[in-house]
Amino acid sequence: MLINDLVGVVGLDHCLTDPDLRAGYEVDWTGRYRGQTPAVVRPGSIEELSGVMALCHGAGQPVVVQGGNTGMVGGSVPLAGEVVVSIARLGNVQVLSDSAARAGAGATLARVQEAASSIGASFGVDTAARDSATIGGMIATNAGGMNVVRFGPMGDQLLDAGVVLADGRYLPSLQEVDPGDPTHALLPLLAGSEGILAVVAHATLQIDIDPPTTAVALIEVPPDRLVSLASDVQDLSSVYAMELFGAREVALAAAGIGRSAPLRAEWLLLVECRSESDPSAELAAVVGDLPAVVAPNPTAGDELWLFREALTEAVSRRGVPHKFDVRMPHAALSDVRSRVEGVVPGGAVYLWGHAYSNRHGEPVANLHINILGEVDDEAVFDAVEGLGGSVAAEHGVGTAKRHRVAGARSDLDQLRALKDRLDPAGILNPGVLLPPA
Ligand code: MLT
Repeated sequence: MLINDLVGVVGLDHCLTDPDLRAGYEVDWTGRYRGQTPAVVRPGSIEELSGVMALCHGAGQPVVVQGGNTGMVGGSVPLAGEVVVSIARLGNVQVLSDSAARAGAGATLARVQEAASSIGASFGVDTAARDSATIGGMIATNAGGMNVVRFGPMGDQLLDAGVVLADGRYLPSLQEVDPGDPTHALLPLLAGSEGILAVVAHATLQIDIDPPTTAVALIEVPPDRLVSLASDVQDLSSVYAMELFGAREVALAAAGIGRSAPLRAEWLLLVECRSESDPSAELAAVVGDLPAVVAPNPTAGDELWLFREALTEAVSRRGVPHKFDVRMPHAALSDVRSRVEGVVPGGAVYLWGHAYSNRHGEPVANLHINILGEVDDEAVFDAVEGLGGSVAAEHGVGTAKRHRVAGARSDLDQLRALKDRLDPAGILNPGVLLPPA
């Protein structure tokens, strides 16, 4: 009955019930999280999205919202028989000015970047998954990405959003909601709320005109210089990216892309600076006498980036990795690899991530620890927390970490209170983010 009604809203072609057509929506990108859904519904307009949510609300039918399905924490696949609401068709992008663009929730990051670049600008949150990751999903997880040192995470770039609530009501602008309305609290909590409060329909995003000159360097860092070098790089007014990985990861990427590793130290920093006037000299001053490969031109800079951007796919080609996306203080970085290796004796550990300062000015890194082989997840979480880290950074909590979320998020009471008001029946992404009451 509900399925027929959903077909009535989105049409037969966009309400998928055939097992073969549903299959790709029932498993996440890593292949680790797999469930089943009665239907995948793909609204093609906000009216249709509203209609779908109103019907599911009326029927008490839980839904899971899915963007590009690049999530890694089991937060957007139907693990408990939810209807999948795919936002992929809500993909329009429009540049509004030289500092703002409006994107449908289903727009891929690549489409947003393409639109921004048409006026010589870019969007400040960028990840290697740009061809698939959608703006809605990136808001849901508060993605940080490779320019987080410059622009902060998704929430810092979110100027406004239009959402559809669990009962199907459409709010075209959260900015314009009356302060007395409970939904006024939604905009500041939206980034990182993992689809439990509302379905993002579209977002207004900050974009920034690109500075004309770029310098990129890959630097070998002795473990005892890691903290001070990261701090010096962070202080550069031209810094755009500060990516951390090591010889093990470079070798993995190099094999994946068929090149030879440019450097082989235990720790490497990939730094990109951009500025109105050539930032090479200030980058060179920070590198000092450390061994480094400095890109002589933008093409060579892109080549260095390949060793970082190829990592996710390279590790997945070797198996289904256990993914731990954690936040570590800089002071713990040089110990994290050995601590994690110590608790997964049978596993191959790869780690990489983004170093930056968080909103409290604390130097941290969003580290992606990927492990192939036998892993006791709790032991890894314990090791991370034992070093003062937190078990969730920018991939979200999903279903994978909700039992440990208390140590990772300080806004749970606010989220739960707003969820109780906006979705009292709990149909939006149940089982995600919030620990059981
Ligand atoms: C990345 O930034 O490379 C990915 O989000 C991390 C991962 O694949 O674990």
